[in-house]
Amino acid sequence: MTTAAIEVRGLCKTYPGCTALDEVSLSLAPGEMVALIGASGSGKSTLMRHLSGFIGADSGSISVFGRQIQRDGRVVSDIRDIRAGIGFVFQQFNLVNRLPVMTNVLVGLLRRTSLWRSLLMRFNVAERQQALEALVAVGIEQTAWQRASTLSGGQQQRAALARCIVQGARVVLADEPIASLDPESSRKVMELLAEMNRERGCTVLVSLHQVEFATRYCPRTIALHRGKVVYDGPSSALTPALLRELYGADVDDLFGKSASTAESAVVGPSAGAAPPALPQTAAALL
Ligand SMILES: Nc1ncnc2c1ncn2[C@@H]1O[C@H](COP(=O)(O)OP(=O)(O)OP(=O)(O)O)[C@@H](O)[C@H]1O
Ligand SMILES: [Mg+2]
Repeated sequence: MTTAAIEVRGLCKTYPGCTALDEVSLSLAPGEMVALIGASGSGKSTLMRHLSGFIGADSGSISVFGRQIQRDGRVVSDIRDIRAGIGFVFQQFNLVNRLPVMTNVLVGLLRRTSLWRSLLMRFNVAERQQALEALVAVGIEQTAWQRASTLSGGQQQRAALARCIVQGARVVLADEPIASLDPESSRKVMELLAEMNRERGCTVLVSLHQVEFATRYCPRTIALHRGKVVYDGPSSALTPALLRELYGADVDDLFGKSASTAESAVVGPSAGAAPPALPQTAAALL
């Protein structure tokens, strides 16, 4: 039997007055691209933070490619080593704002050193070349030497994806990577995630508010409602009727127009081209 890329069993997390995760169990096979949907407060980010090993649960277990991330509510001591194989694309706190994009991407190479130690290290030309190739792959090589804080929201997400590429992440966790992006930037970021899944074999778990993006890019969707998994199956089956059944009368508020368009939104991502060769203009940036 193949080892699951992500295996979660009976995960529970309560905060004062709130059950954020209620017996959550799920399993992602290597190479899957899965959407995690749910209304605001349903537990998406809490689950992502547990999967990243940033917080301990009350009970339950999590493993990534067979390695346990938490045991008895405590994050394991070799979490840094496990995290080396996990790429993060989060809505906020993606990049170190005052550093150049290039440095933010190069951080992906430094698997076992602390961020602050790694920032003091010098990178050789081959490493810079690798980072620049990743920036070319996500289409923002012209921003390599800009401060991360000067990037647009979509460019920041793409820089975080470039860091995942450089890191050689086997699992990519993306928490609402397209929230607050315009439709064109959203499409680009989702296509890049799909490309990482298809061409680099990354297992991708992406949380989304928009059901139409889940149906368009992810064959499978897991839906959370008040900390519980209420659906885990093909995204194509997420019809407005089913969403209404899962989320009740609030569905239009929760998912906006998507609840009424989900049925017509089942189309594949556009075919991804092979990563482009490093252009000469980009090489000059090294
Ligand atoms: N550190 C915390 N302290 C107290 N409550 C918390 C904490 N983190 C999350 N919660 C609560 O847990 C629940 C789930 O929050 P979470 O951020 O996971 O939801 P979400 O699905 O990511 O929502 P959104 O779509 O708005 O990002 C919420 O009720 C939230 O208030
Ligand atoms: Mg969230």
